[in-house]
Amino acid sequence: VLNITETDLAQLAFLLLDRAGLKVGQDGYYGLKLALSSRMPALGIADADEYVRRLKGVTGEHELRSLLPLVTVGHTEFFRDPRQFRALEQRLLPDLLTAVRREGRRAQIWSAGCATGEEPYSLAMLLVELGASPDEVDIWATDLNPAAIESAQAGHFPPRRMAPLAEQRRRRFFTPAADGHDLNTSVKERVRFEGLNLAAPVFAHVLPASKDLILCRNVIIYFDLDTIRGLMDRFLQALRPGGLLLLGYSESLFRVYDRFEMVEVEGAFAYRRPALVRSTTREGRASSPIPPRATPLPMPARATPLPRPPPRSGEFPAVQPPPPLRPAVPVAKPTPAERLEAVARQVDAGDFEGALAAAQKLVEEDTNLNLHALLTLGNIYALMGRRQQARDTFGRVLSTEPLCVEARVYGALAALQAGQLGDARAEVSKALFLEPTLALSHYLLAQVEERSGEKDAARRAYRNALAQLRFKQRPLAGFYPDLPDSPELVTRAARYALAALEESG
Ligand SMILES: C[S@@+](CC[C@H](N)C(=O)[O-])C[C@H]1O[C@@H](n2cnc3c(N)ncnc32)[C@H](O)[C@@H]1O
Repeated sequence: VLNITETDLAQLAFLLLDRAGLKVGQDGYYGLKLALSSRMPALGIADADEYVRRLKGVTGEHELRSLLPLVTVGHTEFFRDPRQFRALEQRLLPDLLTAVRREGRRAQIWSAGCATGEEPYSLAMLLVELGASPDEVDIWATDLNPAAIESAQAGHFPPRRMAPLAEQRRRRFFTPAADGHDLNTSVKERVRFEGLNLAAPVFAHVLPASKDLILCRNVIIYFDLDTIRGLMDRFLQALRPGGLLLLGYSESLFRVYDRFEMVEVEGAFAYRRPALVRSTTREGRASSPIPPRATPLPMPARATPLPRPPPRSGEFPAVQPPPPLRPAVPVAKPTPAERLEAVARQVDAGDFEGALAAAQKLVEEDTNLNLHALLTLGNIYALMGRRQQARDTFGRVLSTEPLCVEARVYGALAALQAGQLGDARAEVSKALFLEPTLALSHYLLAQVEERSGEKDAARRAYRNALAQLRFKQRPLAGFYPDLPDSPELVTRAARYALAALEESG
């Protein structure tokens, strides 16, 4: 049994805020607890007090970085993303029920990364409402975090987690209990929960071509590209031809994985396993339904400035979905990515007013959370000297992507530009904490140190920048003109600055 007190949680929340800029209020303590119950056993620690001490110690940084994604990814809610649930209710589930009834088989749905159960239980409620019997549909829900699974299985929901639920559903499917509500057994029994690591190379319990629908929402945001591609290969294998995968609202496989078809359903996007299996081998030998990829998928081209891989997600590119394969309306309008490219060109040409108006419009109109556009908008504000608006815009990014490194880097740049060295230092240290390998952050820190008259510290930071530049640097999300984000440019700039510092003694 783990011993976790409120004081431990408060200390931990303070540490997360201080190092990573992550705000965890009292209502986030539950998520914090879940994260702890996954990390503490991994280290063989039963006392949260000892865990917090360990975090504060010299080796603590590394552990804090392992804890962070667990804290931020714990969030879930009933019927999260109304557009997707509308599509599920009006089209996807009714069509699926019709199909399995016709084919005389059971529908197979998988909620991958189900957290505390709100997602699979929302599906179960919808299926009851649609008149599906428990025998007609199998809902399998998995998560890496055993504490989340345990909580899901218990089916008890405190008031805060009941809040997003319509009154009608609350009355129909739940029973009031001490401190919250219990989900009725008839719904609970429709979902099978199991622990499963989605990053594992094989899923032993998943038959090829067995799933009709997979929901994997808000899970892959912190996976690196290789992990995402491996997982998508396994999802593709697991789906029946024509089966669908739903990702989270701000997740897209654009330029990451191209073996699904993208379809639009009632305003929501879904990835479909092609109905026709591509045959691979010219020799005509029987092959697995999913041909192994011969060549790596193309990475986002370095030549085109946008869209770029977005924040933190390691290298998870493009936030906005590509145009659907079969667009509902004829495509004439430029895509958000194209519009953003136009904004970047306006900035480059010095037309800040025009760029600002276009970026604002894009942020308002593009219903998909578009971090590239928001980051770019923040940068335009900063360049125009509108410090507060820049700050608010980066704050908006952080409220949805709390570990977004770019928001910190650009925040530091904006502060530096405004001569606010304290703010710049605070932002850049958070960027460095989150991603110590980003040379640009070391370079910015060096600039802060230099401007603060700290020559030794500046030299050290420039050298750190040069040291990191020996490794491949990832491109940044968002556009900033003349940002030395190419390794060659940062190298040159850091060398010059270092030489100048050495000369000046
Ligand atoms: C933000 S929650 C998403 C919950 C739900 N899908 C939703 O969208 O509301 C992310 C969940 O992914 C789980 N997760 C993270 N990495 C995982 C992995 N490698 N394998 C399985 N689950 C993972 C976390 O434990 C967490 O419960």
